[in-house]
Formats: sequence, structure tokens, C-alpha cells
Amino acid sequence: MTVLPRGVKHIPGHLDVAAQRALVEEIRAVVAAAPLYRPGMPRSGKPMSVRMTNCGVLGWVTDRDRGYRYQPTHPVTGLPWPAIPKPLLDLWDAVANHPSPPEACLVNFYAEDAKMGLHQDRDEQDLTAPVVSVSLGDSCLFRVGETTRGGRTTSIRLDSGDVVILGGEGRLAFHGVDRIYPSTSALLKNGGRINLTLRRVTRPGEMRGQLT
Ligand code: SIN
Ligand code: MN
Repeated sequence: MTVLPRGVKHIPGHLDVAAQRALVEEIRAVVAAAPLYRPGMPRSGKPMSVRMTNCGVLGWVTDRDRGYRYQPTHPVTGLPWPAIPKPLLDLWDAVANHPSPPEACLVNFYAEDAKMGLHQDRDEQDLTAPVVSVSLGDSCLFRVGETTRGGRTTSIRLDSGDVVILGGEGRLAFHGVDRIYPSTSALLKNGGRINLTLRRVTRPGEMRGQLT
């Protein structure tokens, strides 16, 4: 068995195929209202290989001029993000072990050549809540390490329906996606991988207006 860093939990096959299909339909509706776009890296503006959108009261975005941040509206359409679908709120209730609901759900779409470098999720003000991640579609090679850059890392394969939780001591674990395994799932008719990450952003009782 692969030993994961403390606070990092992998639940293989948490969602069965029916639940995965239902979730894909929900995400299609999210993407219809809030189209996938290609974000730019801070400062360089270099486009990420992953396309993104969000649902929830806040969404995670990045661009050359303003960098990583959360905001209540889609950067291209200017519209508020659609609501987080009920099955994802239910998933959070089932696995997050946290009293407040998620505020943000980042939707990442990986075409077969997309990847994501090792990084920490640290743009949230409330780090007491876990990050809950769901994989749909093609499998990937996911890498997770310690909370310091350059620490030891472990690689695991994530398949469609798997859930990963970064919580407690693992909340700031470095993680990334080294590669997609094309044609390993029939869930998405044109292939690729969707990753959904549910996050709390603000501290309890904090004014949302402070985040812009
Ligand atoms: C992320 O860190 O935002 C995505 C992780 C993943 O795709 O599994
Ligand atoms: Mn991340």
C-alpha cells in the first residue's frame, strides 16, 4: 500500500458510475453558464495547460496582472459563478468533517497533454477546512508531498470517481498532476479529465466584501 503524507487521504471509487454520470451532467450545466477559459500565470501571463471555471460564491482565478486570487465573478463573462451543485455539497458533508459548507469549487479540465505543476493551495484565509477533490474521466498520475517545497513526494494514480482530501497536517501539502492517461475512461465522450476541488475561502463570520 502506498503511504501518503499525514493528512492526505485517498478514497478510491468513492463515487460509483451512476454518481459520476450525474455529476458530469451538473458540471455541463456549470460550464454552460460559466465557460471554461485558459488562465494566465502571475507576472509572465504564460497560459496554463489546464482550462478552468468555478462554481460557488467565490472562484479561484489567476492572470498576469493580478495573480492568484478568489473573486465572485467569472473573469471573461463578468457574471457571478453558478451555485455549487447539490451532489458536491452532499459530498462535502460526507467527507470534509467541517461545519461550514464550501464557498468555492474550482473546475479544472485537463486535455490529454495537460498537467499541473507542484503547488500548495494557500490562497484561502481559512486553512482549518480541508480541500476535497474529485476526479472524473481519464486517470492521472497525481503527486503529493510534504508542506515544504523540495520535500519527498509520493505518486498515485487517480481514477474516475476517486476522492482526495487534503486536511489537517496535509492541508498545505504540495501537489500536482504529472500526466493524464488518455483513453482510460469512457465517462467523458471526448476524453480528458475533470477535477473538482471544493474549498472554504473566508474565515467564519468574515465579511465577504473584503475579498475582491
Ligand atoms: C488542483 O490542485 O487544483 C488540481 C488537482 C488535480 O487535478 O487533481
Ligand atoms: Mn491545488
